[in-house]
Amino acid sequence: GLTDLHIHAPQYEFRGTAMDLELIEWLDRQTFPAEVKYGDTEYAERAYAVFADQMKKSATTRACIFATRHSESTKILMDHMEATGIVSFVGKINMDRNAPEELREDSVSSAADTVAWLESVRGKYERTFPILTPRFIPSCTDELMRSLAEIRREYALPVQSHLSENRGEIAWVKELHPDCAQYWETYDKYGLWKDHTVMAHCVHSSDEEIALMKKQGVYIAHCPQSNTNLSSGIAPVRRYLEEGLHIGLGTDIAGGHSLSMLRAIADAIQVSKLRWRLVDDSLKPLSLEEAFYMATMGGGAFFGKVGSFLEGYEFDALILDDSSLRHPQQLSARERLERLIYLSDDHCITGKYVSGNKIF
Ligand code: GUN
Ligand code: FE
Repeated sequence: GLTDLHIHAPQYEFRGTAMDLELIEWLDRQTFPAEVKYGDTEYAERAYAVFADQMKKSATTRACIFATRHSESTKILMDHMEATGIVSFVGKINMDRNAPEELREDSVSSAADTVAWLESVRGKYERTFPILTPRFIPSCTDELMRSLAEIRREYALPVQSHLSENRGEIAWVKELHPDCAQYWETYDKYGLWKDHTVMAHCVHSSDEEIALMKKQGVYIAHCPQSNTNLSSGIAPVRRYLEEGLHIGLGTDIAGGHSLSMLRAIADAIQVSKLRWRLVDDSLKPLSLEEAFYMATMGGGAFFGKVGSFLEGYEFDALILDDSSLRHPQQLSARERLERLIYLSDDHCITGKYVSGNKIF
C-alpha cells in the first residue's frame, strides 16, 4: 500500500493547468479562486464525488488531505473518503489573512468553526479522521495560531501544514515574523510542532530547522512533482533519510499534476539525480528501494504499523498487473516492480486492500 502524505482535494479539478506560475502567484491566481467555489455545498458534492472516485481507483491506500476553509464542504469530503475504504486524515483549512475576501476567516470564527467541525465528526467515521490544518504561516495570524494550539491539545489532534517550500514564501514569513529567525519558530512558538505533525515540502530547511524536526519527530512530506512544477526546488531527501527523519511522499495535487503515488516514486528518484548533478554532489541520488520505502513505510508510519508485510502490520496492498507492459525477455520481480513504477497507469491496478478490507 502507498501513502500520499500530502494532497489537496479541492485542487484536483485544476490539476495540469496553471503550471507556469510560482507558488505565491499560483495561490493568488489559480488556487484561491478555485477554493472559493467550495463555499457552495452542491458544488463541493459534485467535485468531491469525482475526487473520491479517482482516489479509490488510484494506487493510494492512505492519505493526508487538505480540504478548504469551509466546514460543511469538508464534511462532504469526509463522507466521500469514508465510502472509498481508504484510510485518511482530512483537514478543514484555517486561514485568516492574506486571502481573498471570500476565503478569509476572522480569527475567532476560524477557531470556533474548527471546534464545531470537530464536534460534528467526532466518532462519526471508521477510517476518516480530522487533522488540524493551518494552511501555512502567511495565512494564519498569531491570534489564530494560539487558538489552534489550544484546540490541538484539547482534541489531541495531528497537524498538517506547509514548510520552507519556496524562497519567496520564506522571505515573506520573515517579513511577517521579524521576531523569528527561522520559519519553524512560527510553528514552534505555538506548540503546533509535535510528533504527529506532517510538514509538506521542506525544500529549503536550514540546519536548525532540520535538527528541530528530528527532535520533535515531525514528518516530512516530500512532493517532488509539485516542487518541480512550481519551481520551488529540490529537497535534500538523502540527508533527511541519513539523519533519520520521518519522511514520506506526497503528490501535492495540484502543485503536482499526477494523482499516482507510483509516479511520485519515480519523480523522487529523478529529481534526486538532478540535485546530485547540479546542486550538491555530496548527496547521492535515491535508489529505487529508498524511494519505495518512503512511499510505503516512510509515510505509512504516520498511520501506525502501516506500509509493510512484516508481522503486526495492517494489511494494505495493491495488486498490480503488468501484462499490458509487453516484453520478450525474462524479468526478475524487482525489475517488474521497477517497470510498474515507471510505466504503469491506473489500468495496471487490478486490486486494492486497506487494513484488510478489499476495496476492489
Ligand atoms: N502553501 C500554502 N498553500 C499551499 C497550497 O495549496 N499548495 C502548496 N503547494 N503550497 C501551499
Ligand atoms: Fe500543498
